[in-house]
Amino acid sequence: MKIAVITSGGDAPGMNACIRAVTRYAINRGIEVCAFQCGYKGILEDKYIDLNRKSASNVIHTGGTFIQTDRSKEFLEKRYRDKAAEILRGHNIDALIVIGGDGSFHGALDLYNDEGFNVMAIPETIDNDLAYTELTLGFDTAVNNVLWAINTLRDTMQSHNKVTVVEVMGRHCGDIALHAGMTGGAEYILIPEIPYDMDEICSGILQSEKQGKRSNLIVIAEGACRMEEFCAEFEKKTGIIPRQTRLGFIQRGGSPTHIDRYIGSLFGIYAVKAIIEGKRCRAIGLQQSKVYDIDIGDALKMKKTADVELYKEIMEIK
Ligand code: F6P
Repeated sequence: MKIAVITSGGDAPGMNACIRAVTRYAINRGIEVCAFQCGYKGILEDKYIDLNRKSASNVIHTGGTFIQTDRSKEFLEKRYRDKAAEILRGHNIDALIVIGGDGSFHGALDLYNDEGFNVMAIPETIDNDLAYTELTLGFDTAVNNVLWAINTLRDTMQSHNKVTVVEVMGRHCGDIALHAGMTGGAEYILIPEIPYDMDEICSGILQSEKQGKRSNLIVIAEGACRMEEFCAEFEKKTGIIPRQTRLGFIQRGGSPTHIDRYIGSLFGIYAVKAIIEGKRCRAIGLQQSKVYDIDIGDALKMKKTADVELYKEIMEIK
């Protein structure tokens, strides 16, 4: 048997731990493993590489992906998926493991539906926006990166009595903002899924300052609003000039946390096991802290929604 692995879409810490687990677990079971560099695009360009025990050495602690990643517009077209299947079969590959997010899962599903080529999908995105799994690879590290930044900002906030606004990633899903905001002690957290009340935020911060609080923090997910516009309106209404920090791609890099190495490794093992057991077109995920698998199509049908009650509770501890 021979398995190929790709990383697709935006990178996230934990990918390398996952590739390592796929490689080692498969090799230890007498299965050949290979990869294509740069995701689906790399399959189409036949960027084939053999993986062996050594190629997965000394990567578990690193962020990014050592087999590289990319996005592929071509893969949206059936004729290119036909070509990809031909290339995969040409290398005698029996199944493809795709480590990626929503778009990459769609690619895997289409490849399976069009070509009957077996695929396993492993959830990876710092956004944590896939509904079928409690966690995606990279989310925990991203939250910890944001927490590090908030802790650092707090030193200067405290010293100067400032209001600080931190913008984090998350175009449609506010999980990074919510988790980092809550555990970083933010006064307000703005997420794309739930509208915010500007007047309430302004009076809340003014009140907080009046009570002598020396640092007030607002965490904004990038999809909730434009940070510059928010700050301009905030300044107009309160007279306070907030300090703005956009964390950007710093959130997506760095050494993966224990959680991301742990789930990355477990997802990798589980995907290989599923292939050995003859499972087809499965998405690997986490439910009630246990790894499980579900049809990729069913996984994609599930839509992630914000837990409004939980959000309200979190806002009660500001
Ligand atoms: O999907 C992950 C993510 O990091 C988002 O949070 C962010 O909006 C997006 O990728 C930006 O990345 P790129 O510019 O690579 O699409």
